Amino acid sequence: MSVRSFIRALAIAAFMAFSGGGRASATMPAPKPDELAQPKSVDQPGFPEQLYKWVIPAHNPQSAAKVALGKELFFDPRLSVDNTVACANCHDPDKGFTDQLPTSMGVHGKFGQRNAPTVLDALFNIEQFWDGRAATLEDQAEQPILNPIEMGMPDEKTVVAKLDSIPEYKASFRSVFGSDPAYASVVAAIAAYERTQIAFDSPFDRYMAGDSNALTAQQKRGWAIFNGQGRCMSCHGWNPTRPLFTDDRFHNIGVSAHSANFVPHAREALALLAHGGGGAREIDRLAISTDMSELGRFLVTKQPHDIGAFRTMDLRNLYLTEPYFHDGSQATIWDTLDHYNKGGVQNPYLDGGIVPLGLSGQQEDDLAAFLLSLTSQRYMAQAEKEYQRQFRISRTTRPQRDTAAAMGLKGRNGPGFSGPFGDIGPGQAAMNENPASLGGN
Ligand code: HEC
Ligand code: HEC
Repeated sequence: MSVRSFIRALAIAAFMAFSGGGRASATMPAPKPDELAQPKSVDQPGFPEQLYKWVIPAHNPQSAAKVALGKELFFDPRLSVDNTVACANCHDPDKGFTDQLPTSMGVHGKFGQRNAPTVLDALFNIEQFWDGRAATLEDQAEQPILNPIEMGMPDEKTVVAKLDSIPEYKASFRSVFGSDPAYASVVAAIAAYERTQIAFDSPFDRYMAGDSNALTAQQKRGWAIFNGQGRCMSCHGWNPTRPLFTDDRFHNIGVSAHSANFVPHAREALALLAHGGGGAREIDRLAISTDMSELGRFLVTKQPHDIGAFRTMDLRNLYLTEPYFHDGSQATIWDTLDHYNKGGVQNPYLDGGIVPLGLSGQQEDDLAAFLLSLTSQRYMAQAEKEYQRQFRISRTTRPQRDTAAAMGLKGRNGPGFSGPFGDIGPGQAAMNENPASLGGN
């Protein structure tokens, strides 16, 4: 076990003790499909109808029977090697289709390197996974079933043979696809079910539709900061056509810079991918179960500028999907805001859009309240409880807060900084001046 994996194991143990202990264990049964697992109506304020028409693939049209079969499969632990882990173990509808763990636990109680994102609204993702290594929901579903530490099936043939031996499945596949179970139809049915998990209908959506009372005064202040001083909108873009709070791009915002040894890991990954042919399963293995996970988008493109870059995530329903970032390293929304406020964590591949923000504590509170307004009505009661819980933690525990860095008084922009990047930029005070007065003296 490397030092990093050891620290991760400790962090997960601490997290589980902290969050009530034993919420997940190797013997935890797969969740059952309840009310929150049902296909959702598309009749929701804020739902992007035109975009929806574009994203349903012509080769896999929706049908009620296919969705029902996909739902069966999504909740069925028999898709895993020892009948313990279903998709729903890590994407539990009662937890906003996540597991609410820093990183996910698969077969034999093994933990991976990445945080499970939600399936809600995932049909609109331009690519799937934190590094975009799968183009579609169909391609995505192929991976976890065969990943050795997620569902652990040895190969496609074994999965198909297992389903073929279950008479109910044999009959359903025949009636939906007109043929016996095949791996391509397994993932097609699962994807069709996922495409019914739509979660708009938030206070923000109603506000944008013209109900000016849908947001509180504090949330309106937060929305202004989101667009202005917070610079959130520059990556987490919203517009009526793509109301998804993402630019569909990949950025290094300094999350993995805490621990990553980027250059040696990049060399190791290139050598392994060249050797193993660099296919989808090999990249999946590196991402889920090795320290090379932190290379992010680089594993897919092999471009140096993608080192440590991850997909800009949708910001809807965040108070169901804690903890945050690709490695689940931040416990609360306030911690993510403190991360941005101090200008992220310095590293040679840091995105140019990550700079100290100079936000006050009140402004961070306003942003956190605004983010609650992106919660779908169906989940609001649950999200409000989590918002209150995180608010209470934020009054006493702020491990990422660095007010001096946020105000431009230290770090790359301030005096007395002796790190590897030098004091090369204007400080926060200077940035607030007329830009024309800064250069040339
Ligand atoms: C052991 C836990 C685990 C299991 C089981 C699992 N997932 Fe995931 N899922 C994850 C993790 C972790 C990620 C993120 C991995 C990454 O990005 O590298 C993920 C990513 C995804 C995504 C991409 C979402 C996004 O925003 O990019 C979808 C969709 C998804 N899983 C669906 C499924 C389906 C369908 C199944 C069953 C066939 C499944 N998952 C099984 C943990 C799991
Ligand atoms: C330069 C682009 C960029 C900017 C600016 C930016 N983000 Fe992000 N955001 C990202 C990326 C990329 C990720 C995923 C990073 C990772 O996990 O490594 C992310 C992740 C997040 C997450 C975690 C989501 C999850 O599901 O875990 C939150 C919350 C968030 N951003 C909020 C904000 C807020 C609030 C602001 C403004 C203060 C902001 N972001 C500004 C690119 C950006």
